[in-house]
Amino acid sequence: MNNPRPAGLPEIHSESWDRLSRYCSVCGIELVEQFGWGYEGLVYSTVSKSAIKAFRHRELYENELKVYLRLRDHAVKAAHEFAVPRLISWNDEFLVIEMTIVSPPFILDFAGAYLDKRPPFDDEQLQEWEEQKMEQFEDRWPIVRSALSFFKGHGIYLNDVKPGNVTFGDEDSWGSDASGRS
Ligand SMILES: Nc1ncnc2c1ncn2[C@@H]1O[C@H](COP(=O)(O)OP(=O)(O)OP(=O)(O)O)[C@@H](O)[C@H]1O
Ligand SMILES: [Mg+2]
Repeated sequence: MNNPRPAGLPEIHSESWDRLSRYCSVCGIELVEQFGWGYEGLVYSTVSKSAIKAFRHRELYENELKVYLRLRDHAVKAAHEFAVPRLISWNDEFLVIEMTIVSPPFILDFAGAYLDKRPPFDDEQLQEWEEQKMEQFEDRWPIVRSALSFFKGHGIYLNDVKPGNVTFGDEDSWGSDASGRS
């Protein structure tokens, strides 16, 4: 039986919710609380202390799964001081990925990452991108950049690098623009 859609669930996530709900019924999983309703994903914690992300688009699901499989194969649990979720299970029919819950500081959300190839940006675009990241992360940008290099060492080129996906955990106490601008 499907769980009723939560009040206030954005319309764009209705279908993902129905899939998530069916997946949980089939696997006997009980959801606890909502972690996030981003652009692509609907993320909930479960009673078994895991996190489940349901995707809107198969392509992005497949992309994120490939990255998690790479991280699993390389036994990556952290990128320097950042915790990285570990893959628990996935389902190609319901487009869900179950992973461990991480606490800040963490890096997650690999739906937009490039695997074994650099993002297709020229030098000027890369420079603009880096300037934007320096504004977002301020004096913490070198820490973030060093974590990005760590991922590159595993063939993973993160593209959706922003507060939220890169969380230090004390965002309220620094900077004025650390709350999710892409
Ligand atoms: N494994 C996890 N452990 C702890 N928190 C998590 C986990 N997965 C997701 N979250 C929380 O849920 C939020 C949304 O997850 P995620 O970034 O993967 O979804 P998204 O839809 O791609 O988000 P957006 O499009 O807004 O970047 C994260 O910013 C984080 O706060
Ligand atoms: Mg995100």
